[in-house]
Amino acid sequence: MRIWGGRPLEGSLRVQGSKNAALPMIAASVLHNGKTVLHNCPRIADVDYMTDILKMLGTKAWWEGNTLFLDCSQVFCGRIHKAYAQKMRSSIVLLGALVGRFKKAAIAHPGGCVIGPRPIDMHLEVLRALGTEISEEDGMICAKCRELKGASYRYRIRSVGATQQGILAAVLAKGTTRLLHCSSEPEVQWLIRFLNKRGADIVWENEEDICIHGVNCLEDVEFEIPPDRIVAGTYLCAGAITRGRVTLENVILEEIEAFLDVYQKMGGQYEVNSGKLVTDSRRVELAIPYLETEVYPGFPTDLQSPMMAVLATVPGRSHIRETIFEDRFKAAQGLQKMGASIYIEGRDAWIEGGSPLHGARVQACELRGGAALVLAGLAAQGETIVENCEYIERGYEHICKDLFALGGILERDTGR
Ligand code: EPU
Repeated sequence: MRIWGGRPLEGSLRVQGSKNAALPMIAASVLHNGKTVLHNCPRIADVDYMTDILKMLGTKAWWEGNTLFLDCSQVFCGRIHKAYAQKMRSSIVLLGALVGRFKKAAIAHPGGCVIGPRPIDMHLEVLRALGTEISEEDGMICAKCRELKGASYRYRIRSVGATQQGILAAVLAKGTTRLLHCSSEPEVQWLIRFLNKRGADIVWENEEDICIHGVNCLEDVEFEIPPDRIVAGTYLCAGAITRGRVTLENVILEEIEAFLDVYQKMGGQYEVNSGKLVTDSRRVELAIPYLETEVYPGFPTDLQSPMMAVLATVPGRSHIRETIFEDRFKAAQGLQKMGASIYIEGRDAWIEGGSPLHGARVQACELRGGAALVLAGLAAQGETIVENCEYIERGYEHICKDLFALGGILERDTGR
């Protein structure tokens, strides 16, 4: 991607549907011998990878605009080999969904963004707790059971994926399952709404415990994928880093509260007008002395790199601590090449902001870190080239077109 920076972004955008809400819903569709229709589904690589796995298992899948149709009536329980599973981390939740429907499943270890070790121990433990036997044969994780039985399981860490895994396995299990110390990220909440709409019986007992009464079967469903809170935050960062004025349609305000709180502390202003989020970043000028990523409703790890790029342009010293993933500061190297002054030690990053950014040739190493480099390019003087932007396109449906619509000067080099 080539970016010629230095112009404040101005204008209005509609936010795409959420990747991380869509992926487990697509996986969940195999639980039902029938149809799932997902509106507002983002057409991005990760959604295609998940859909490809389902097609390989006999699902009929097709698109009409941004509506994804899935017919799982002919699904069989095939093995999901490395070539499919390693394309993305969230392929692992198919294990719970397939065991839920067929009482057996086999999948290779999942892949995903390189942001530190990403174990799957709790994914497997929760399945075991529900009565599944798990073994590893030739690099495949094999799960089988006579029947899934409701049980109680407490997560060691609040994990989005492992919570979704537990839910998918428990929906059709016999009896009641209690999942304790769950993630309450919006993507878990949306999965529960989606499943309840099609006949599941899942309730929150409090902010972190979930109770699932197993049902015999699910029903066909049509569902609207919610807006992507991370894409919304990224585009607000694009406004902030260029000191522009960006308006977003299709945002759920309460899902980005922690972000907006930091934005205001930097000097950003916002209001809600006719359902749109109207932001004004002309006075963004204050460093953030301490910012920690946390589970929801705290500041999301997925917006840590975009925020780091913004803080690199704000005079004064900011400090970010990444508490969710061990190695999620990969964007810092590219930012440093563009003139940012960032010092990293373990899970801490200190940003000495305010030195002007200049264009450079940098490399995206993962999705959100790559997006952060694009934002930095929009603020930098001169030309920036972001290589490997296929990483970025795994999560952003039209990042180039969207930022261009806001007045950014950038193009996707399609020559490769
Ligand atoms: N963890 C374990 N064992 C497990 C599962 C997780 O130790 O069995 C640890 C992880 O290593 C990590 C922590 O628990 O330290 C939290 O990870 P979590 O499981 O919540 O992350 P995830 O489900 O793999 C999802 C999103 C990520 C997002 C994280 C945190 C999807 C497809 N991915 O990952 O999104 O960063 O939650 O909110 O939903 C992205 O979109 O760029 C992205 C990486």
